Order: sequence, then structure tokens, then C-alpha cells
Amino acid sequence: MLMKTVPAKAGTVVSGPRKIGISARTSASRLTINADQKKQLAAEAALKYVDEDTIIGIGTGSTVNLFIDALAARKLRIRGAVSSSDSSTARLKSHNIEVFDLNATGDLDLYVDGADESDRHLRLIKGGGAALTREKIVAAASRRFVCIADESKLVDVLGRFPLPVEVIPMARSYVARQLVLLGGHPVWREGTITDNGNLILDVHNLHIVDPVGLETTINQIAGVVTVGLFAKRKADVLILGTPTGVKTLK
Ligand code: 5RP
Repeated sequence: MLMKTVPAKAGTVVSGPRKIGISARTSASRLTINADQKKQLAAEAALKYVDEDTIIGIGTGSTVNLFIDALAARKLRIRGAVSSSDSSTARLKSHNIEVFDLNATGDLDLYVDGADESDRHLRLIKGGGAALTREKIVAAASRRFVCIADESKLVDVLGRFPLPVEVIPMARSYVARQLVLLGGHPVWREGTITDNGNLILDVHNLHIVDPVGLETTINQIAGVVTVGLFAKRKADVLILGTPTGVKTLK
């Protein structure tokens, strides 16, 4: 039932901020920009949601890395950040941005994170970078969730991207059997250990027409820590980088 596989996402090369050299107003017919450049546009557009003197929630992934870099380059005077992963913590600290424990901050005004897929209702699949549990916690504790992505992440129906599920190690096979009963094809992301010491199953072959229902059902399987469906706490704003600039959905 469980096949060996490579991680759901290969690493993405991160372009440094301000290296793109494109204008959002340039004619689309003359413009070809790659996915990283679209991510950069989305990341920079999210800066306008940041209020100075606040602590902001920070997600994980290549788009968020661009956001962190843009935040530092713009020299916005924030108090600091709550991070959703060890990798984001390291990047924040490399820019001398103070990282706070969520237990010490209370709820946050803003959470900025990427996504693996979004539908037009801003319900998301996340967890390609295996940080879904802490991402879900910080998103839940934030009043506004701004999601940043390149336009390829927008889909009509969630499920083309394999749905990540973080599981307690001893429950891996049990949870996989339950996911098969739900119609999915779970694949163990071998070699990946989450920041919480758990494993990831990537569930293929899902056509998710009821994201809230499926999120609830998978959450209730014994041994599941977190399912990468962000439907109950979806994004409030989705900023998509496109060849002609950003497109914002609310
Ligand atoms: C990490 C995530 C990321 O937000 C998601 O994988 C998108 O990553 P990227 O910005 O690199 O495309 O959920 O767990």
C-alpha cells in the first residue's frame, strides 16, 4: 500500500529580492517570468499588510523566504515574528528579526504564508514543506491570514497536489489504511521528519469537493497530528503573482 517516494516538492531556488527587473505594468505579451519571479511579486505585495511595531506570524517555504527577505530589505520596523518552522526561524534570525514564542505573544494580527494549492474560496492545501502543524497553529492564532503564491497554485478543486498528513510514527500504517478507506492513495514521504519528530503521508488521488468535511474526518483518525487542509481556517487574502502583476482574491 505504501510506496517509496521522493519528497512532495523539490527545493526551489530562491531569487534574492529586487533582482527580477520586471515591471508589473509591462505588456503581458512581451513578458515571460518564471515561478520564482511570480512568488517575488506576491511576497512584495504582502508587505502592505504589515503594520510597524507588531509581531507577525511567518509561514514556511520558498515564497515566505522571499517575504522575509523583502521585509528585511524594506527595513519595516516590526517588533519581531512568530515562526512556523526551524527553517523560517533561521532565516528570520539571519536578518536579525527577533523570533518570539507564540505562548508569549497571545494572538497575532497577521499571518503570512504560502500554499501548495488554493481554491477560489481561499481554502488551501499546505504542508509540501512538512511544516503544516505549526503553520496551522500560527494561522489559527492570527486574526488575518494573507496567503502568497504564484498563480499556478490556484485550482478549481483541491487535490491535484497530494494532501500532506502529519502522523505519529507508530500510527503510520494504521493511518494509511484509514486514508485508503477514504479513497486516497497515501505515500510515505520517506526521509522526512517534521520539526515535531513525526512523519508525513502524502495522499494522492483525492478530488476534494468538501474540504471542511474531509479536514474534520482526517483530523479524527487516531494518530493524525495535522492534515494539510486549511479549510476551517482558510486564508483571508490570497495574493497571486502573475506575468502582469499581482492578483488579489478576498
Ligand atoms: C510548507 C508549506 C508551504 O507554504 C507550501 O509548501 C508552499 O511552499 P512554496 O512557497 O515553496 O511554494 O505549506 O509546509
